[in-house]
Amino acid sequence: MNHARIVGTGSYLPEKVLTNVDLEQMVETTADWIVERTGVEERHVAAPGETTCDLSEQASRHALEAAGVEARDIDLIIIGTTTPDHVFPSVATQLQHRLGCRGGAAFDVQAVCSGFVYALDIAYRFIRTDGAQRALVVGADTFTRIINWQDRGTCILFGDGAGAVVLEKADQPGIIDSQLHADGRYKELLWVPAGVSSGYEQTRENAAFVEMRGSEVFKVAVHTLKEMAEQILAANGLTVADVDWFIPHQANRRILSATAKRLGLPEERMVDCVRIHGNTSAASIPLALDVAVRDGRIQRGDTLLLEGFGGGFTWGAVLLKY
Ligand code: COA
Repeated sequence: MNHARIVGTGSYLPEKVLTNVDLEQMVETTADWIVERTGVEERHVAAPGETTCDLSEQASRHALEAAGVEARDIDLIIIGTTTPDHVFPSVATQLQHRLGCRGGAAFDVQAVCSGFVYALDIAYRFIRTDGAQRALVVGADTFTRIINWQDRGTCILFGDGAGAVVLEKADQPGIIDSQLHADGRYKELLWVPAGVSSGYEQTRENAAFVEMRGSEVFKVAVHTLKEMAEQILAANGLTVADVDWFIPHQANRRILSATAKRLGLPEERMVDCVRIHGNTSAASIPLALDVAVRDGRIQRGDTLLLEGFGGGFTWGAVLLKY
């Protein structure tokens, strides 16, 4: 079977920045409370009319450029997103059209904040089995569109953005291992109660937004991220000491710190963009990856552990040599 490796990364953040001080004007909170409980200082918010496909396109163009790959050479596009431009068609098909590459498979994956890890896993399996040669894998969300700006328990956490990678067939790994999981029992801890086949009509008058039981989500997230890291490392004969860079879903600084502590992983080896991005859902991991690649922290040959966690719950890990 083939191997697959990341040959380029890219990301994009909308121009508008929403600070904690801005949020003080919107809900009963303080900038200090938000920083202390979440680590978030600012997040980016898509402009009116700016869509998930717009963010995906910018991130993808940066990733293609970094990889030195022409869009016409992409034969698979997978986007992890929960906030598509339309009920259908998928964001991936629209992105394909905008980039000018035609004919290869293009589809969206809905695994909320684990969306990028799910998309990367699927692309990896396509390339492993000769179903594709070169994939564009994107995590993109305009999550602020499904946020209730009167709910101080959620509106402080989320932001918008997109990250992308080009994944290519290779002789050597690349991706060493990838694991995906889900447990639907946890639906109501983090969800949007209405959907296309349930309550869609009512949403015209009464929009449906993210609802979350924050402290319960927090506990499951830390436990799951820790267990999953140990599981995938052990399965590959590795330990935490072998990981050069840990890139977990950027949910909350306290979740990241607690996970690193339980794993015995020094925080200096964890990529943490929570302060400047907030939780960008499926975009958070590829955004953090791209930041650390471009600022020179991540070097070719480094061992990376990516871990997603999101509504469902869904979770997944990808272990790779960059
Ligand atoms: N400003 C000020 N006070 C706030 C607040 C805000 N923005 N949000 C909640 N509070 C209040 C609560 O109302 C509560 O007040 P009470 O004690 O009078 O009832 C108090 O702070 C404690 O609330 P609690 O929810 O227990 O706080 P917490 O320490 O768990 O922090 C979160 C809340 C949301 C920051 C935290 O639970 C969290 O980040 N959870 C994980 C969420 C997450 O990452 N989700 C995405 C996963 S993919």
